[in-house]
Amino acid sequence: MTDYTTNNVGIPVESDEHSLTVGADGPILLQDHYAIEKMAQFNRERVPERVVHAKGSGAYGVFEVTNDVSQFTRADLFQPGKRTEMLARFSTVAGEQGSPDTWRDPRGFALKFYTEHGNYDMVGNNTPVFFVRDTIKFQDFIRSQKRHIGSGLRDNDMQWDFWTLSPESAHQVTWLMGDRGIPRTYRHMNGYSSHTYMWINAGGEKFWVKYHFKTDQGIEFLTQEDADRIAGDDADSHRRDLWQAIERGDHPSWTLKVQVMPFDDAPDYRFNPFDLTKVWPHSDYPEIEVGRMTLNKNPEDFFIHIEQAAFEPSNLVPGIAPSPDKMLLGRLFSYPDTHRYRIGPNYAQLPPNRPHAPVHSYAKDGPMRYVTPNVARPYAPNSYGGPAADPNRAPVAGWSVEESEMVRHAYTLRRDDDDWGQPGTMVRHVLDDDARDRLVRNVSGHLLNGVSKPVLDRAVQYWRNVDKALGDRIAAEVNGG
Ligand code: NDP
Ligand code: HEM
Repeated sequence: MTDYTTNNVGIPVESDEHSLTVGADGPILLQDHYAIEKMAQFNRERVPERVVHAKGSGAYGVFEVTNDVSQFTRADLFQPGKRTEMLARFSTVAGEQGSPDTWRDPRGFALKFYTEHGNYDMVGNNTPVFFVRDTIKFQDFIRSQKRHIGSGLRDNDMQWDFWTLSPESAHQVTWLMGDRGIPRTYRHMNGYSSHTYMWINAGGEKFWVKYHFKTDQGIEFLTQEDADRIAGDDADSHRRDLWQAIERGDHPSWTLKVQVMPFDDAPDYRFNPFDLTKVWPHSDYPEIEVGRMTLNKNPEDFFIHIEQAAFEPSNLVPGIAPSPDKMLLGRLFSYPDTHRYRIGPNYAQLPPNRPHAPVHSYAKDGPMRYVTPNVARPYAPNSYGGPAADPNRAPVAGWSVEESEMVRHAYTLRRDDDDWGQPGTMVRHVLDDDARDRLVRNVSGHLLNGVSKPVLDRAVQYWRNVDKALGDRIAAEVNGG
């Protein structure tokens, strides 16, 4: 620890107590550049918070492969015996930076793996499905969950208005209103890719894959009553829990399992395998173990390592590629775009985002650039020995698209595709009686908090569509028995 204060460029300063004034009671002088630096620096301490997932916590760790899945992917982080350093950030979705960790909301489950072939980001949630299935609805969905234009308040009427007008939300809303809608801590929840991705093996063979990171701490949840109490007692309870667990050496871990679908199964599968509102039943595609991620190092500086962490679903390394999921394809654009706005175009140079693999990019200049491009001339092609793109290192991995008219149309429906089937299965076959009771209480409590009559009526019908008996019970609760 140094024993004297300097300004930002190392010059010793005269005082941290008193501004430079004309006499003890006189005006402050403009030449007090240190006082001005302090004020100006302070005014610029914040970057905009993330437009969603603003409140979050994270830690560094390691991913270790425990099973041989090289027949499905050539991605270096999934090869037998491999250990890859990584960063994780968990978050709530709709709340702002200071919001309570125990609000009912999906949790973000964002991972960045520093692989030999560059950064691989798996930007998932603690749920296997999502509220909508087309990118173009995401912004409307989020606005319905955030604050009212006039009152500036969160508004249950807006939430149910959107949900009941968007029946594809039923699976995710059933999940959200159930026990897993408020995990006990970040350590006690699973993470899912939710989306389907493509894996490509060394022979060029393709597969469809879904990721399930299963908590080794066990699933635990909070009741609405406990969550409400904790929100008042300690709004940062999940951040505190994660930090303290890692500090005391109780390193949380998750086992990665994947469901793998042969590439050619996709066209005839009974559900659209790329529809983000659906899961693949385990009985159709069983889970295969891949490895374990363990979080073992807290950030030294929260702002630098967690606030400036920039996760992006477009960070896909050789052996992993997108699928035709219309949500995923939109996300590939959205994240790098928001990072350029939120933390600047050179965000990839910041410590949490800097790859451990060498960078040979022709990108240069721009705000806050401080790394010189690792190229002799800033353009390609050049005759001074610059790097050249190598299709063998990064072969295009895609799928065939039928020649067709341009349309704005929903996915073509498959045999078992509908909005109510899978949530109904969850209610009838996955939840037990106690979990169903809590679901009824959670939904009716939420509906009785500021939801208007027409929306309430639609909500009752929505739940009857999920499960008639459940809907009848909710109707009885909200209509006074
Ligand atoms: P399974 O009985 O094989 O799987 C049910 C899964 O539900 C469990 O493995 C568990 O997922 C998850 N689950 C358990 N309790 C809850 C809860 N309270 N809230 C949310 N999820 C819970 O059946 P299927 O694979 O045929 O799926 C049946 C239904 O289960 C689906 O329609 C879907 O609603 C739900 N589900 C399915 C998942 C999947 O990927 N197949 C994943 C999660 C839910 P986990 O092991 O991941 O903890
Ligand atoms: C964060 C857009 C759907 C998981 C964000 C951010 C944006 C965004 C703009 C802020 C990023 C930042 O400032 O760093 C979208 C769009 C979606 C979508 C346009 C749909 C088309 C999803 C889905 C998931 C997801 C389906 C999960 C499966 C996350 C997570 C974060 C995030 C985990 C926080 C990342 C972090 O911790 O920094 N999203 N999102 N999003 N999103 Fe999405």
